[in-house]
Amino acid sequence: MSDQNKKQDENNQPNEENLVFDDERDLLMDHEYDGIQELDNNMPPWWLYGFYFTIVLSVGYLLYYEVLGWGPSQEEEYEIEMALAAERYGNLAEDAIFDFSLTQILTDAESIERGREVFNASTNLCATCHGAQGQGLVGPNLTDNYWKHGCDLESLIISIKDGFPNRGMPAYGSTVRIGNEDLVKLASYIISIRGSDPPNPKAPNMSRAVECFETIPGENLSE
Ligand code: HEC
Repeated sequence: MSDQNKKQDENNQPNEENLVFDDERDLLMDHEYDGIQELDNNMPPWWLYGFYFTIVLSVGYLLYYEVLGWGPSQEEEYEIEMALAAERYGNLAEDAIFDFSLTQILTDAESIERGREVFNASTNLCATCHGAQGQGLVGPNLTDNYWKHGCDLESLIISIKDGFPNRGMPAYGSTVRIGNEDLVKLASYIISIRGSDPPNPKAPNMSRAVECFETIPGENLSE
């Protein structure tokens, strides 16, 4: 301690004693650290009530989660969240890679029906923009033979997966997620309604769309 500090300490000594009021003498505890003394005051009421509240809460918590087992455990909560995520986003690890060389247009009724379901699902909104029959509304007609972004399976899947955020169509490979299996079925369904000629078709934007020369499976078998 420097000389100057010592002097200050000595000067402060009498003052510190004066800071203890007469009615506080009983409360004064008999320890002292660096000239700091402590009073044995009661806890403030707000603090005490908060403390009692946590005791009551802990009993309720113990009963609810541990004794009666009404609340889910950590493991159960984890399982529930994972199941919800799998339902919403599909299996992410499996969907990360899309092997187009192994992907084929599906033509079986079950897959087409599933594709139709995904197209009309209220969570995906395809029908809101492209029309319930794919005839086109805000989004282009998906049943005619004119396409802006390609009409083959791979192009369709990429169109859906990446969307056209600048033009208002969300990417279905990101926040609103359609799993790989469903993507193939959805794209196959879109191929299956090509040429279906629904009422009120939206005219193609001929400044951007080009004619499609892809063959639709099953269509030219009889030719
Ligand atoms: C909010 C409106 C909106 C929603 C929802 C939407 N689309 Fe689109 N979609 C569009 C618009 C607009 C375009 C045209 C983009 C452009 O002009 O380049 C488009 C383009 C497309 C194309 C490419 C068409 C072409 O000519 O190449 C496909 C395929 C398609 N949408 C399928 C889907 C499917 C499947 C869904 C549901 C999973 C869907 N869309 C949901 C608005 C939407």
